Amino acid sequence: MKKIYTKTEQLDFAIEDLPAMPAPSKILMVKPTHYDVEYVINPHMTNQIGEVDSIQALNEWNYLLDGYRELGFDVEAIPGEKGLPDMVFCANQSLPFIDENGTKKAVMSIMHTEQRAGEVAHIEKWLKSRGYETLRLNPDEIDSFEGMGDSLWHFKRRLLWGGYGFRSSLKAQERVSELLDTPVVALELIDDRFYHLDTCMCVLNEKNALIYPDAFSDDGCEMIYKLFDNVIEATAYEAEKLFAVNATCPDGKNVLIQQGCTDVNKKLRDSGFSVHEYSTYEFLKSGGSVFCMKLMLW
Ligand code: ARG
Repeated sequence: MKKIYTKTEQLDFAIEDLPAMPAPSKILMVKPTHYDVEYVINPHMTNQIGEVDSIQALNEWNYLLDGYRELGFDVEAIPGEKGLPDMVFCANQSLPFIDENGTKKAVMSIMHTEQRAGEVAHIEKWLKSRGYETLRLNPDEIDSFEGMGDSLWHFKRRLLWGGYGFRSSLKAQERVSELLDTPVVALELIDDRFYHLDTCMCVLNEKNALIYPDAFSDDGCEMIYKLFDNVIEATAYEAEKLFAVNATCPDGKNVLIQQGCTDVNKKLRDSGFSVHEYSTYEFLKSGGSVFCMKLMLW
């Protein structure tokens, strides 16, 4: 069954009626061993080639890893690969999930740019070694799909939020819906500074989301407002310069976010969340932050 929603009028379900899905408790992180900005494939990387301070990057990455452990997550770290400087953004090469029978599976990405294509095989090999069955999209049919960069699970429900326009196509989102037999609310992205869904939407928990509204088409924005009780909006400055929306709320209560997002942090606290700030400045240079530096697993 394929169920893809692109307009509010099409929405024919309520979140609480969707099947439940256990929340992930494990995390993968890829060490920034070979992390750098070596090419420009998003606007944030412009003028950043060679500008990464690798010692600082490793510090930031270590603090973030500790942060997940402190929240009780089981974190595994694997080394990066030479020649694949963006592999550290390990949310992008796959979309993991657990099916109704408790089988762990992952849809592997088809990266949009050739510079990142080689990352997928490394992550696939690791996923298989951890008992994941991996699923492939047909490259003759789908031009690109960037995993959890553009596919976000609703908190503890079998519903996906799917971004399309820059790194993943609508066709890819349709295919994912079919493959997983899961509804996908497809959101068109319209601003290339917010090239992945995880740069402009963060599912905080069942009822709350954090977004940057101007990154979406009107239809997309409307569907988000329709399905969440509370939508927190980030300001243009915090969303673009601090990647405020590339935050993550792995347990539905604690939000890990780039340092200095004063406005968003106040709104998060007013909505009952605990905020934990991390410096990811070295990773912002490549167009990534807290969310995409890890992969959530079961
Ligand atoms: N330089 C990487 C790219 O452009 C950064 C990826 C960050 N990931 C993310 N989901 N925002 O592909």
